[in-house]
Amino acid sequence: MKRTILYVDDEIDNTVVFEAAFEDDFNILLATSGQEALEMLEQTPVPVLVADQRMPQMTGVALFEIVRQRYPHTKRILLTGYTEPEAMLDAINKGQVFQYVKKPWDRATLMSILIRALESHDLELTNSALTDRLVASERSALLGQATARVTHEMSNQLTMLPLIEMIETQYADQEELVEVARFARKMYERLVGLIDEVKAFVRFDAEQMTRQPVRLSEALHELVSFLRFDASIPNEQFTLQIRNDSTVSANKVKIQQLLVNLIKNAAYAIRDRKDGRITVTADTDNGEAVIRIEDNGCGISPENIDRIWEPNFTTKGDEGNGLGLDICKQLVLGHDGRISCTSEDGLGTCFEIRLPLLDPSETAQSEPYGSNASASNEQGNRPIATQEHP
Ligand SMILES: Nc1ncnc2c1ncn2[C@@H]1O[C@H](COP(=O)(O)OP(=O)(O)OP(=O)(O)O)[C@@H](O)[C@H]1O
Ligand SMILES: [Mg+2]
Repeated sequence: MKRTILYVDDEIDNTVVFEAAFEDDFNILLATSGQEALEMLEQTPVPVLVADQRMPQMTGVALFEIVRQRYPHTKRILLTGYTEPEAMLDAINKGQVFQYVKKPWDRATLMSILIRALESHDLELTNSALTDRLVASERSALLGQATARVTHEMSNQLTMLPLIEMIETQYADQEELVEVARFARKMYERLVGLIDEVKAFVRFDAEQMTRQPVRLSEALHELVSFLRFDASIPNEQFTLQIRNDSTVSANKVKIQQLLVNLIKNAAYAIRDRKDGRITVTADTDNGEAVIRIEDNGCGISPENIDRIWEPNFTTKGDEGNGLGLDICKQLVLGHDGRISCTSEDGLGTCFEIRLPLLDPSETAQSEPYGSNASASNEQGNRPIATQEHP
């Protein structure tokens, strides 16, 4: 099946030439203004959009700005006939353009650019589906834990069996009452069955948390290769630094899920910053593996800093569920580690995760999670707690 390419140019002659050049290879859609292109995009998914820069109502770059927000995976190629340094700089800075092509273009060059854009689009979609799955599976794990708690409580409340038995034996001669008791017993058995089913399901989920020796550099590099294609993470603003590599006893996927949550939060925090940066550092300190996720984004206000770990606490309105950090906290605890946050309102935030280094002769030691979230500047070496993990 031919792939779709949308070409936007206010000069009809140009659209005719473009269509003639590529209609054998692609399904070409044509629009003569940015507005018309936007209407078409609403109707049809378009992997690659090619637009002329000079158009009367809406320039190519202005169109790309809107498309980038609405359809982040659509690859955008700008055609320009003039030297328009300002428009170009603008487009580069805003990361809006997959590639420029100077007019007049030749078919072979443009063809190879279109093919590359399609490939890049497809790769990006696959990878962003992967990160989505990472986040989603973590959310379902959290739901699993909540379910486990609820089913446990429900079993505790299911105490009517002795009552039913009492009616069955002591009022055996009262048919109507016995009939009601039989009905109650059936409902009871059904409820117990349901709870057992849910418990079995939740247990299955918990079993997936197996731990193995994980080299942090490897887990981090792999994660970065997923994130490269996640449209919500600005790659050019992201840095990974391995200062000291280490091996920990962990579930690699869970560690990656944990980091995705923190990196997504950082990306959100810098979204309005031109000079925004996210730095992930792996280091060792005081017998622990240390991972820091730092950003120079909006920071967290002192009145919110103690609330960020609460489930459902969010400052993102409809855009957030407030689950990310609760999940992170559970995951770090599940690895006998600690997580803390330091933030300066308006300047940036640093999340620090500490995990015991893998050493078979040592038993894992940690402190309970509780008070670790703090607004203080406690970046220094904290002693390893000597309390056994519950
Ligand atoms: N790097 C950060 N910079 C600034 N604020 C942050 C950062 N990380 C977390 N926060 C604050 O903590 C709140 C809770 O974060 P959390 O990840 O739990 O939920 P969320 O991001 O709002 O929603 P969700 O992760 O469920 O999509 C955020 O709404 C935000 O106010
Ligand atoms: Mg979050």
